Parts: sequence; structure tokens; C-alpha cells
Amino acid sequence: MKIKRIFAAGMFLAISVPWLWGCGKQQSAEPIKVHVGVACYNQSDTFISELLACFREEVNELGAAATIRDGAGSQRVQNDQVKELIDAGCNVLCVNLVDRADPSEIIDLARENDIPIIFFNREPVAEDLKQWDKLYYVGADAKQSGVMQGELAADRIKSNSQADRNKDGKIQYVVLEGEPGHQDAIIRTENAVNTLRSNGIEMEKLSYGIANWNRAQAQNRMQQIIGKYQNQIELVLANNDDMALGAIDAYEKLNFTENALPIFFGIDGTDDGLKAIVDSKLAGTVYNDKEGQAEAMARLAVTIVQEGTEGQAGEEKYIYLPYEKVTSENVRNFMAPKKSESNTGS
Ligand code: GAL
Ligand code: CA
Repeated sequence: MKIKRIFAAGMFLAISVPWLWGCGKQQSAEPIKVHVGVACYNQSDTFISELLACFREEVNELGAAATIRDGAGSQRVQNDQVKELIDAGCNVLCVNLVDRADPSEIIDLARENDIPIIFFNREPVAEDLKQWDKLYYVGADAKQSGVMQGELAADRIKSNSQADRNKDGKIQYVVLEGEPGHQDAIIRTENAVNTLRSNGIEMEKLSYGIANWNRAQAQNRMQQIIGKYQNQIELVLANNDDMALGAIDAYEKLNFTENALPIFFGIDGTDDGLKAIVDSKLAGTVYNDKEGQAEAMARLAVTIVQEGTEGQAGEEKYIYLPYEKVTSENVRNFMAPKKSESNTGS
């Protein structure tokens, strides 16, 4: 599979600026008003709610409008919401599928009404994105986030002789995983663990828990795992920050002393995740560039409504924003309102 990786900002800026800010004088026709219909899989998901907050801002800045609907975990509900968004006059859709393997009904609806779809965060399989030429995806490369998490953990373990607490030459670890079937669950886990191994760290898996990206579920799973393995766990690799925080909650609830705690790693860089790094509870995370993704979605939405899907915008169906490693050393850079100016490079 050959997927083009492009940096969104420069390209869409170049296309969009004349429409958005230079209008009036030379252009005779008014640009078409952009109304984005957004369908998300579950607004109580921390990363998604933070991403949508960024998206709202971007849309406002571009002078477009957005209506957001929450599928609350049901594909059937989401299908109905997409229909309502189309009936309400949205001229472009941003869809965060509940079931990323089941987009056909939404694609059919959109195609019948000739409304382009930008899928985001939950990546449809490649064949589905080929169903129609007005389908796009904005997200990030799951493998990269797993590799980076593995590198962060390897660095930390190598530079800290206390990490192997029982001094057996191996790192006893537990994995907390997101939803089964999600591109960011299994791929992150595999790549994090393989990267640790290829960095020469001997790994011993004690257990794993599926916690569906959710902090409370992760706390629950982790309490069960701690019940079994007590203070043997030296490393917790979580597929996202909320689950890493849930694992930390479990240890706090059970009143573990600091020298019996494992090292925790997450992915996302949510507000609470970054704060936990500042507080030295979370050893590191991998920044999931919500600002960059929101900006790419908003700019693409405006471009395809106002310029059509032919030409430049029509050629790029995938936009992947790069991840970044976060530790206590650089965490402050991610805490100020961060625009994606770092993504404009080559
Ligand atoms: C991932 C993110 C998770 C969760 C999930 C939802 O990219 O890391 O925290 O939001 O998407 O699809
Ligand atoms: Ca050990």
C-alpha cells in the first residue's frame, strides 16, 4: 500500500488564502458558504473532545460553520445522524466512524447527495476509501506512535537502573489496550514492544487488559492485574494517556509507595496526560497532533467545497500528521496553545 504523507498546512493555505482573505476585489462570485457536518464516534472520549474543540476554532477562523453530532458508540445512530446532517444542508462531512469497518451506508448516503466525506481518527480500510473519489482521511500513522512510545521507554529504562526493580535483567510489563479492531490499538502495542526489544531490552509480558481508551475501565483492569502480580510490574505501556492515567489511579487507590510503582507511558498528550508528566507521574507520552489534524480537516473541508475535488485537493486522499515524543524535558512546549506551525516544513 502506497500512501502519500503530506503536510497539510502549506498546501491548503496556498489554495485557500485567495478565497478566504483576498476575496472581494478581483473575485466576482461570493465563495460558497461552508457548512461542515461532523459525526463523532463518542464525544466522551477525551482525545476526541479535545480534537473537536480545536476543530471548532479552526472552522470559526475560516468563516465556516459546523454542526457536531455524537454517535455515542452506535453505528446505527451515527448513520441516522449523517442523514440528518445532509438533510440540514451540510455541504461537506467529517466522519469519525463508530465502526471503522462499516462505512458503506454513510458512503452511499453521501454519494447519493454528492457530499464529500473527510473521515478522521478512525481509519477506514483502504478498499473503502476507494469506493468513491470524494472520500478523504485525516489522521496519524499508528506505527509511528508505537515506535516512539517504545523508544521513550527504552531510553528511560537504559538511563535508569532502578527500572528493573527485581534486578533479573528483564522488564516485567503490562499493556493496556484500546478498542479491539482499532488501528491505534494492536499496531501501537506491537510496535512499542518490538522497538523495546530491538533496543536490547529483555521484555517479559505479565498481562494485558482491554480498556477501550477509557480511564475508569483502565483503573478497573489494572486493579485486577495488580491483585495478581502485586509489586512485580515494572512497566505499563498504555495505548493512550487516559488508560495510563487509569493505571496510575489504580496504584494510588491501592496506596502503593513510590518505590513499588512501575514506569507509565501513554500516547496522545491530552491536557491531563501532559499535566501528569509535569507532576512526574507519567514518564512520557507521544503527542497526537490534534491541532494539526483539526487544521487539516477544516482547510480540506473549505477547499473541497469552494474549489471542488478536482485538481490539487483531489489528488491527496490521505493526510497524516506526524507524532512527537514528549517527556518532562519538553512537555512545556506542548502545554501552551499550540498551533501546528511545526508542521509546515518540507
Ligand atoms: C486514538 C487516540 C485515543 C482515542 C481513539 C479514538 O487515536 O489515541 O485516545 O481517542 O483515537 O478513536
Ligand atoms: Ca525485572
